[in-house]
Amino acid sequence: MAKLKLVHRCGECGASFPKWSGRCMACGAWNSLVEDVEGPEERAVTLAAGLALVPPGEARPIGEIDPRASNPTATGIAELDRVLGGGLVPGSVTLLGGEPGIGKSTLLLQLLARATGPTLYVTAEESAQQVRLRADRLGAVADDLWLLPEMSLPNVVAAIDKIAPRLVVIDSIQTVVDPELGSAPGSVVQVRGCAHRLVQEAKRRDLPVVIVGHVTKEGGLAGPRVLEHVVDTVLSFEGERHHALRLLRAAKHRFGPTNELGLFEMGEAGLEGVPDASKLFLTDRRTGVPGSVVVPTIEGQRPLLVELQALTNPVTGAVPARRSAQGVDQGRLSMLLAVLERRARVSLTQHEVYASVVGGVRLGEPGADLGLCLALVSAVSNVPLPADLVVIGEVGLAGEVRQVGHLARRLSEAARLGFAQAIVPASTPEAGKGLTVRRASTVNEALALAGFTAS
Ligand code: TYD
Ligand code: MG
Repeated sequence: MAKLKLVHRCGECGASFPKWSGRCMACGAWNSLVEDVEGPEERAVTLAAGLALVPPGEARPIGEIDPRASNPTATGIAELDRVLGGGLVPGSVTLLGGEPGIGKSTLLLQLLARATGPTLYVTAEESAQQVRLRADRLGAVADDLWLLPEMSLPNVVAAIDKIAPRLVVIDSIQTVVDPELGSAPGSVVQVRGCAHRLVQEAKRRDLPVVIVGHVTKEGGLAGPRVLEHVVDTVLSFEGERHHALRLLRAAKHRFGPTNELGLFEMGEAGLEGVPDASKLFLTDRRTGVPGSVVVPTIEGQRPLLVELQALTNPVTGAVPARRSAQGVDQGRLSMLLAVLERRARVSLTQHEVYASVVGGVRLGEPGADLGLCLALVSAVSNVPLPADLVVIGEVGLAGEVRQVGHLARRLSEAARLGFAQAIVPASTPEAGKGLTVRRASTVNEALALAGFTAS
């Protein structure tokens, strides 16, 4: 056997170092270095997989390439198809990441049962009996769904040869091993080597493969980030364990946009798509509470109404007051607090400030700025905003309210759910139907429109 070298490898970026240190010199991650081996095998596998990905090729005019070869096939699970931009592409490898217990195995079992067979479920974590019991509950005992309780990758490949499935699920990448690679299951070398091999098999057979990857509490894939570069698509499954709502997003997608959000509810019979998301997000809303505002946002193609909440609490002393943001960017919150102080003379320096988006949604777009400003002022002045009001607008450093995209769609979603008034950027070209639209060009004007007297 060739000689192996002991290295310290970063679980985040995959870089290796001869000596251990508290911080990865390549990507800057803390405490991410773990002992690993590096040897000719590992390099050979990586190289072979890399080469296999590129078919020995001759150059061809772009017009002669058949684009339909990578057309997606619908999975029949509407929320999944929405995120994937239509379905799974032949020969593609998709990584489904998420915390243990979030519902990855459940979703994939439902996916396999609906797919046109034969399909293969490689269960390297649970026994075939456990999976069967779950399938009974999910109504997923399909005729052509094959179960393979197996951890060894060569045996998995042999089963793929034998069954010739049209869809394969590997549950999970942390528990399959390639004995040739030598190192322990779940190690960087194993996870990456096995993923490379699976990519190779998928491409060779035009077979879609879905791989499960557990994610740690901190949100990183247990195992290497490098996995993300190996696969075509990275999906993340999120949600709070004690809450039935599950959010599916694409962090990377070679075959389409990554901004669509899929929504599921975990129930007695497994995961069910949530067609009317806005309604769901607003079910528990209590109106007439200071600090609460409803913001119409856009997730991919879909308008979504979410509730934003702010809470402020006066503090004394020289210690900088706490600022906590959940679902909104911390930096954005700080910026808006500064804008409120300088442009609207609302000072929150002597207050702790909490801002959060209800339902586990992350608001990445600046269109929620104005809503957050109003929620903060409502919270600190202890005066609720009108219950039938929605607020849209980006806020600039000068306190100006800037235009956001898809205003008409956002407003019609608000009207559909019974909201009667909206505060929007003054420069908005479109006007909303079915609700009263008020225009503001500055944060001060918006505050006045919402009933707060500007000072
Ligand atoms: P699971 O799919 O095993 O999660 P993962 O593969 O991501 O670790 O989901 C497990 C949880 O889902 C478990 O706590 C029970 C719950 N569950 C339901 O609520 N309803 C169901 O029909 C199923 C199958 C699971
Ligand atoms: Mg599982």
